Amino acid sequence: MTITYRGTTALITGASSGLGTEYATRLAARGADVVLVARREDRLRELAERLERSHGVTATVIPLDLGRPGAAKALRRDLDERGIRIGILVNNAGFGLHGDFLDADEARTAEMIQLNISALVELTRAFLPDLVRERRGAVVNIASTGAFQPCPSMAVYGATKAFVLNFTEAIAYETRDAGVAVLAVCPGATATEFREVSGLHADRGQRGSQTPAEVVAATLRALDRGHSGSVVSGARNAVLAKLAGIMPRPVVTSIAARTLA
Ligand SMILES: NC(=O)c1ccc[n+]([C@@H]2O[C@H](COP(=O)([O-])OP(=O)(O)OC[C@H]3O[C@@H](n4cnc5c(N)ncnc54)[C@H](OP(=O)(O)O)[C@@H]3O)[C@@H](O)[C@H]2O)c1
Repeated sequence: MTITYRGTTALITGASSGLGTEYATRLAARGADVVLVARREDRLRELAERLERSHGVTATVIPLDLGRPGAAKALRRDLDERGIRIGILVNNAGFGLHGDFLDADEARTAEMIQLNISALVELTRAFLPDLVRERRGAVVNIASTGAFQPCPSMAVYGATKAFVLNFTEAIAYETRDAGVAVLAVCPGATATEFREVSGLHADRGQRGSQTPAEVVAATLRALDRGHSGSVVSGARNAVLAKLAGIMPRPVVTSIAARTLA
């Protein structure tokens, strides 16, 4: 299946920083109009101006907290009212929490599940039916290499990403003949604000860290190949993900624990 970028509109959640900013930039460079969603409006406006100036696309800014129940439906309504139809959905907004599960703030943990899982599922449900009906476009869900094994010190975060990976691969299968690309992207450590937001030590788990540009390039290569299902960004990450699938679970868990401690 071939994705047309020019003349389509890409919705990118978490566009105010890191991977989201890079997805918006690369998709605009391919000619797509963009809808930029996150909470920090000032950053989204700056990005929108830059993309409109450099690529001649239309960039719409929608400041929104996707960690609140009902936000996905509100976003769909807002876009309908503006007459904007989405051709590419990038479910990228997400965050992690570092530390033992029993020490984590309960409200923050619930917010993470709401954002990383519920908002992603609800947005997919809100936009995928149109794409299937029109046999076009793509849904790109950002998972993580943390999806391939238990993640002690980031137990709930890792489990949210395992959900994203399995959910996305399953609906990619269900829609395999629908002319839509459905892809889970699994980045390993990537240089963004993620570590700071998650409270991860700056010097842990950084080996082989990628840039947002590398992760987005891997995503676009997979889409260009017409690939649905999932893709791991980076050869080293792909090998580690494979190993996690074949090594005994207790061994994999203790390696992850040491990496994330
Ligand atoms: N960096 C890594 O090492 C890594 C590795 C694997 C997977 N990932 C995944 O990659 C995705 C992007 O993260 P990143 O690395 O680019 O981190 P980041 O730089 O911290 O970006 C996270 C983005 O999510 C947005 N966001 C957070 N909470 C939100 C909310 N309640 N409502 C709306 N938007 C919200 C943030 O915007 P506002 O704060 O302005 O709302 C920001 O734009 C995440 O799903 C993350 O789990 C990252």
